[in-house]
Amino acid sequence: METKIIRIDEQHIDQALIKEAGDVIRAGGLVAFPTETVYGLGGDALNPRSSEKIYRAKGRPSDNPLIVHIADMETLDAVVREVPESGRRLAERFWPGPLTMIFHKAGCVPEETTGGLDTVAVRMPSHPVARALIRAAGGYVAAPSANRSGRPSPTVAKYVTEDMDGRIEMILDGGDVEIGLESTIIDLTADEPMILRPGCITKQMLGEVLADVEEDCTMMRDDSGQAPKAPGMKYRHYAPRGDLTIVAGEEDRVVEYINTQAASDQNKNKKTGVIATDTSVAKYHVQVCRSAGNREDESTIARELYRILREFDDEQVEVIYAESFDTAGIGQAIMNRLLKAAGHKVVRV
Ligand code: TXA
Ligand code: MG
Repeated sequence: METKIIRIDEQHIDQALIKEAGDVIRAGGLVAFPTETVYGLGGDALNPRSSEKIYRAKGRPSDNPLIVHIADMETLDAVVREVPESGRRLAERFWPGPLTMIFHKAGCVPEETTGGLDTVAVRMPSHPVARALIRAAGGYVAAPSANRSGRPSPTVAKYVTEDMDGRIEMILDGGDVEIGLESTIIDLTADEPMILRPGCITKQMLGEVLADVEEDCTMMRDDSGQAPKAPGMKYRHYAPRGDLTIVAGEEDRVVEYINTQAASDQNKNKKTGVIATDTSVAKYHVQVCRSAGNREDESTIARELYRILREFDDEQVEVIYAESFDTAGIGQAIMNRLLKAAGHKVVRV
């Protein structure tokens, strides 16, 4: 299949292009599009054939449910059995935005979309292109991140094309995304609301709206002996091709440790890379070194992380060392993704 790649300016959205993209989804096809978190791979959430196509295009196991994206609050009631008071309050505060909520599903949502579950994940993104597309597509767009299964989520259209060219009908190129990590997921179907995936809407922010918020204990550890409650979190996601180790500790010791290790890796002819930060980047002596951003503003690091992992793949880096990040605020989401990418390999120095 030939994939049509269309550049779209979020400031001046071309409605004719959006209609064309919406028609592709209505007809059962797939369109990749920008959201504020990462690029999504969209199909009609109410059409089981579309969801099957999404799984095929991603190479994703079909027991891993998709998020249903909506653009308007009135459309929520059609896809969920009921919206609890907590859901209304969270929507008021955080939608449109990077929060996904899990509800009991209504009958119209096919099991192909929910991976056989009786619950459905719903998100109302804020990106203007995403919102326009969802409306043009009929209101309900199932969209996982637009990467092939196991690769880091794409934060620029170039990487959507790399993974999806020839596999889907259309890619809307809306430039760089704003956040760079996937939405926070909160499950509202259990007794207490529970965070299943950390994102830029933090536990503390959710706690300002809800009295009690729990966290899935598997989010930051791999030794809990339990399966993650979000089926997708059990896979070793976000995996770069190189062998990634996180090095935690005080900056100078981390730099010294990594430089020593990297020298020995490079002696063995292994191409070596480091994920550094603005204050440390100049201190490394390795072949490929990137600053992910500024520790004083971890949202800069969230935005760059997946792009760096992809760039290391492009440059065929074989051994990767990453600095460790504070788990307050968005740092928890950064570390959750890094720990998965590293298969929880952490060295403390
Ligand atoms: O920011 C985002 O959420 C992006 C953009 C495109 O909106 N989407 C995204 O989708 O990250 P995906 O498919 O890559 O991740 C969805 C996660 C998976 O871990 C999946 O298992 C979980 O959500 N999930 C979906 N429905 C669920 C449900 N009913 N119960 C538990 N977990 C669910
Ligand atoms: Mg994903």
